[in-house]
Amino acid sequence: MPPVITAEGLYKVFGRRPARGVDALRQGRSRDELRDSGLTAAVIDASFSVDPGEIFVVMGLSGSGKSTLIRMVNGLLPATAGELRIGDDVLSDMSPAKIREVRRTRVSMVFQHFALLPHRTVGENAAYGLEVSGMNRADREAKAATALEMVGLKGWGGYKPAALSGGMQQRVGLARALAAGTDIMLMDEAFSALDPLIRRDMQDQLVDLQQRLDKTVLFITHDLNEAMRLGDRIAMMRDGRIVQVGTSDEILNEPANDYVARFIQDVDRSRVLTAGAIMEKPNEVLGDGQGPRTAHRMLRATQNPWLVVLNRDRTPRGVLWEDDVAAAVGAGRDDLPWSTVHEMPVASEDTPISELFTLAAKHLSPIVVVDDKDRFLGVVPGSRCSPPPASAARTQTPTPTDRPGVMPPPDQPPPMHREVRDEPAG
Ligand SMILES: Nc1ncnc2c1ncn2[C@@H]1O[C@H](COP(=O)(O)OP(=O)(O)O)[C@@H](O)[C@H]1O
Ligand SMILES: [Mg+2]
Repeated sequence: MPPVITAEGLYKVFGRRPARGVDALRQGRSRDELRDSGLTAAVIDASFSVDPGEIFVVMGLSGSGKSTLIRMVNGLLPATAGELRIGDDVLSDMSPAKIREVRRTRVSMVFQHFALLPHRTVGENAAYGLEVSGMNRADREAKAATALEMVGLKGWGGYKPAALSGGMQQRVGLARALAAGTDIMLMDEAFSALDPLIRRDMQDQLVDLQQRLDKTVLFITHDLNEAMRLGDRIAMMRDGRIVQVGTSDEILNEPANDYVARFIQDVDRSRVLTAGAIMEKPNEVLGDGQGPRTAHRMLRATQNPWLVVLNRDRTPRGVLWEDDVAAAVGAGRDDLPWSTVHEMPVASEDTPISELFTLAAKHLSPIVVVDDKDRFLGVVPGSRCSPPPASAARTQTPTPTDRPGVMPPPDQPPPMHREVRDEPAG
């Protein structure tokens, strides 16, 4: 599929007669030299493309040109030179009316400081973009209510923003972007004002929403940890230039230059490179008392061949593989095939990734991450902790017999007669 956003040789120079700044830069002048002549080179020769369904992070220190870049993508700022395309449409060819239409129908933006209207209710704020685009009240209220529910704010539509915490206000900003129903979301330091725990929560929620709704996200941050957590790919920006584009692994393993190398050195590596930093929260986990048909439906909804099974207290019981589920459904069983729930390797949030390599080499299944009370937090899929090439040679190709052993019987016998019935087939 063609990229959703494409930038080719993009420049933004602020000041009088900015085009002369572009010429000077192309002739090798530096940013500082331009500044001496009264021009600010905010974005210099930036090229990248964002694929459909990708979370693409632009990461750089304050002043490196991130906001300028995203505002050009949004059509809020015209580029001084270079080309920017949304799908096949070239932004610089568009009339102002056409650009407004793109903003209404294709691209929505979430800002750092929420940008909520204080005298309007949460529901009206979520519906604001739709109101501006002329949608009737009933339709926009329905869309806003759905979006608020998606971000966990069901029931808050009638309140004023001031009644909400910072984290909740940012969810309203997110709901507004979701209500607009655009396939592209631009987020400029959207979580930077939130405190760390709430921020982490929002990051998880964004990944979850992105997967469910298949949005393309261009996310800007100055926080490398956040970039590593969210980004399918990361563009590192410095002084207006993109100095490297790659996955977090590529950037950590092969920094393109000394600048990037120093940057990632300053990062709290122990925090980046832990199970907690790279784990995923699966959309579907099988609860105690749920049966094979539910498991089958969940497997269809996920892209994994396995499901995590939790006990009632949310401690992990094990992992269930799709062929065992299929066999149970085929045999018409209506209880879980307990004997086929396999033990899975367990890590804590701060287990270093280096230790995960070893676990992953021994087990085919995902690694489950638990908190200090052994409650389930997330999983690190096997592919995420594939060992580095050197040790990969030593790892055997996993076969089904490499699966971890059968789980020891749980403390309590599995319920034979469940009160909650499994959902009907089909
Ligand atoms: N409207 C403007 N006029 C002049 N200079 C600007 C304007 N907007 C941004 N700049 C300058 O462009 C550079 C990049 O800014 P910005 O894109 O906001 O960076 P970031 O978002 O990475 O912090 C900075 O030097 C900033 O002062
Ligand atoms: Mg900025």
